[in-house]
Amino acid sequence: METVSEQKSNLLEQFTETRDRTLKLVETLEKDDFVVQTAPFMSPPKWHLGHVSWLFEIVMNKTIKNYKIYSQEFNEYLNSYYHQFGEPHDKDKRGMATRPTVDEVLEYFHIISHKVADVLQNDLLDNKTCQLYFMAIHHECQHQELLVYDLQHLLAGRYRPVTANPLPVPSQQELNSVRIDGGLYSMGYSGNQYCYDIELPEHKVYLNDYKIDVFPITNGQYLEFMEDGGYNDFRYWLSDGWDKVQNDKWNAPMYWEKVDDVWMTNDFLGKREVRPNEPVCHVSFYEADAYSKWAGKRLPTEAEWEKAACWDEKTQTKTVFPWGNKPPDINRANLLESYLWNCTEIGAYPNGKSHYGCHQMIGDVWEWTSSEFTGYPGFKSGFSEYNDKWFANQKVLRGGSFGTPSISIRGSYRNFFRLDERWLFSGFRCAEDI
Ligand SMILES: [Fe+2]
Repeated sequence: METVSEQKSNLLEQFTETRDRTLKLVETLEKDDFVVQTAPFMSPPKWHLGHVSWLFEIVMNKTIKNYKIYSQEFNEYLNSYYHQFGEPHDKDKRGMATRPTVDEVLEYFHIISHKVADVLQNDLLDNKTCQLYFMAIHHECQHQELLVYDLQHLLAGRYRPVTANPLPVPSQQELNSVRIDGGLYSMGYSGNQYCYDIELPEHKVYLNDYKIDVFPITNGQYLEFMEDGGYNDFRYWLSDGWDKVQNDKWNAPMYWEKVDDVWMTNDFLGKREVRPNEPVCHVSFYEADAYSKWAGKRLPTEAEWEKAACWDEKTQTKTVFPWGNKPPDINRANLLESYLWNCTEIGAYPNGKSHYGCHQMIGDVWEWTSSEFTGYPGFKSGFSEYNDKWFANQKVLRGGSFGTPSISIRGSYRNFFRLDERWLFSGFRCAEDI
């Protein structure tokens, strides 16, 4: 376990890097881009910048005696869903406010950066306070990823990233699955760095023997489902999913459009033909589930996914990442700091494969699991209203995406979304009973 002074220097470093990364994401935006909300589920960049700073103010307000909140007007606009801090501003009206202005929010961002850096450098912080600052840093990382989803929705190919690297060339691409023995598996976070309350406590679960795909499902595989009438056959769909297909006229993943008999997508790389060997992205839980049924398979549970990602059968140990305990780097996974702005083809990261030989479990696309999002047995809330108030009607996704900052992700990380959400970078892989 790290000492409090080690935690503090780690904190300052992570804080500075995180704030710089947020600014880098918006560096090339025009002022107009900061304000617009292109759908009720996305937020304007201005709001993200203010909201991540607001949460640091909440932490300071909780831990510093006589702390004075910067502005009541900011407090109201930037509160996302925390009723304990006042009545939150309507989510779907974040793009209808011209005040606070973009300049005022940017000024606020810098003021809060200086205040927090000052606290982290000079104040004596106990372990509990350090954990709250870590949480606020990781919260900002979550919003960086949401900001990337939103920038794609807002600008797609018109977004000009500060850094954009070429996509790596894939090696092995043979589609198959691996067999994993069942038994008792200890699920949850086992490392000694920061993790969210929902990844704890580590606890035992019983698994039957199963098989799981080596790669995420590709666009090519998903196209077979579509061409076989997948979206027209109720037999593959959960009742709520079938309603969604009918009512919203779903016939392909989000952003796809058929032009002259060719399926095109529209993302950071612009309007382009769908590439068959990239993992399918922008599918909802319902679509992932329907494909799996069509394929005669099923989605893995989150315990099955985690064991396939992190368990080393040879040494009988669990690692924090599929490749071991070292943090992610650009040779092992496609995460935000790879700055590729897209999924890579399957087989692009042989160095990142798991002990069982599963590829791209970290990075590229979040993977839907069949598990309901709820607290692990013995769950204790780390921060009221952050994670635990979402313990209903959401499914767990694992593994991170090309929009996930690398300090955010680990094998035990649990993301969660409603079953019909598609604007995130979401895909899946299938499992089978043996
Ligand atoms: Fe938030």
